[in-house]
Amino acid sequence: MDRLTLEAPAKLNLFLHVTGRRADGYHELQSVFQFVDLCDRVELSLADRIERPEGLPGLDPEQDLVVRAARLLQQETGIQAGAVIRVRKQIPDGGGLGGGSSDAAAVLMGLNQLWSTGLSRAELAQLGLQLGADVPVFVHGTAAWAEGVGELLQAVELDEPWYFILHPGVHVSTPAVFKHPELTRNTPPITIRAFRSGAGKNDLTDVACKLRPEVGEALEWLAGFAPAKMTGSGACVFAAFDSRAQAESLLTQLPQASWRGFVARGLNRSPVCRVLDCE
Ligand code: C5P
Repeated sequence: MDRLTLEAPAKLNLFLHVTGRRADGYHELQSVFQFVDLCDRVELSLADRIERPEGLPGLDPEQDLVVRAARLLQQETGIQAGAVIRVRKQIPDGGGLGGGSSDAAAVLMGLNQLWSTGLSRAELAQLGLQLGADVPVFVHGTAAWAEGVGELLQAVELDEPWYFILHPGVHVSTPAVFKHPELTRNTPPITIRAFRSGAGKNDLTDVACKLRPEVGEALEWLAGFAPAKMTGSGACVFAAFDSRAQAESLLTQLPQASWRGFVARGLNRSPVCRVLDCE
């Protein structure tokens, strides 16, 4: 095998609590991650060196998370092989949907296969954590209850509803949210059972709305149709619907030209695991 194409899914945080702050400044979280079938396509082919021929103009390829993922695996394993990496983006960047992290995870998993480097899923997840707190769940490949900074993962089975995801056309800086003096950092831990009974909100919401009022406007509009939440540190907000038609009916009702809507199915298993063994 000398090439692989992987569908790297977006994620939603069905809730996100900040339960503490570590000495290194990172925050202890509780969250539930579920994937959705809004995917970037990651194409990998064996080559002599690591190349990203179609990266973002102006972005140093060495800063590109997919290139960093490939280099990290190369260094970790001492492998001499390279790869050409192409990413067809569908997931909007910086919206709390984890697109960059998912692409990086797909590169780690895909190159582990193409290069026959034989790292276990747990070893890949640990490597992924060096690239970002959201990378391990994508390597894990299942919807998960998450603790720590997002690396302590336990698979969960959830309903797989249709989601309407709304991007309000603004960018929220994740470090700015986590650094904000008004962020709630001491939410008492909850149990999975409490989450299943409806507990859980996104503790980053108030600060994100303060930094970008458009997030609050999007939440308010979406809440007129169904209970709405923000994912990650925003800016995207989402709501669950029983049918695709219900979710799609919102696409034509968006009140602002700068807003973008996406309809996607919730997934308990990453589409990457249809191609690669995720056990
Ligand atoms: O790991 P990631 O690149 O997603 O994190 C971006 C920033 O968000 C970090 O630099 C940190 O400031 C903040 N963060 C945090 N606690 C987490 C995750 C992220 O403080 N658990």
